Amino acid sequence: MVEKLICPSMMCADFGSLKTEVAALDEAGADVFHIDIMDGVFVPNYGMGLQDFEFIRKATKKMIDVHLMVKNPADYVEKFIDMGADIVYFHPETDQHPARTLDKIKARGKKAGIAINPGTSIETIQELLYLADYVLVMTVNPGFAGQKYLPYVDNKIKKLIAMKNEYDFELVVDGAISNERVETLSKLGVKGFVLGTSALFGKNESYKEIIRNLKGENN
Ligand code: DX5
Ligand code: ZN
Repeated sequence: MVEKLICPSMMCADFGSLKTEVAALDEAGADVFHIDIMDGVFVPNYGMGLQDFEFIRKATKKMIDVHLMVKNPADYVEKFIDMGADIVYFHPETDQHPARTLDKIKARGKKAGIAINPGTSIETIQELLYLADYVLVMTVNPGFAGQKYLPYVDNKIKKLIAMKNEYDFELVVDGAISNERVETLSKLGVKGFVLGTSALFGKNESYKEIIRNLKGENN
């Protein structure tokens, strides 16, 4: 089994105590802080802001990814890299030249990721897989936490797992990821798990207990 990357979806954190939240997640073993940026156009919602990103960047030395759910993401890539993003994900269907954008991210020495909506097929993005370090498979339609997992995406996940060695990328899943899904998808070969309300936030157990269990450190 590959070692899991645990990626807390920070839009699900308690913003009244963001500093404490980041410190607790950091100490609990979170690997990558996931920051959802939305423009109200590509998705019908607003996520976190630049100030939130900057605040979290200052509060942890762990990796930070930015998930750009915006139109024309190429316009924002440099900004987030300048602010300290380690991984930049964008949705290729809303970028005129996604191959160029992936190259631009990598030229800055950062990891480049494409995010694939539930309704987007592998065939439409296949060539980009050569350029991507990570593929973020959306298992809900992007924009909102607390939605239901879309089981038809399992088929695409399995196909991508079969392709990941040839194209050299790692898979991350985002949306309604429960503890059980982390287990099953990890066994299949998924590396990263964006966790929101389904597995991590608003639970009775501490972040430490949850993350240790997910990483199998209690066994
Ligand atoms: C969806 C977001 C997800 C979401 C995950 O657009 O990117 O990260 O917050 O949270 P849950 O587990 O509530 O689906
Ligand atoms: Zn996300």
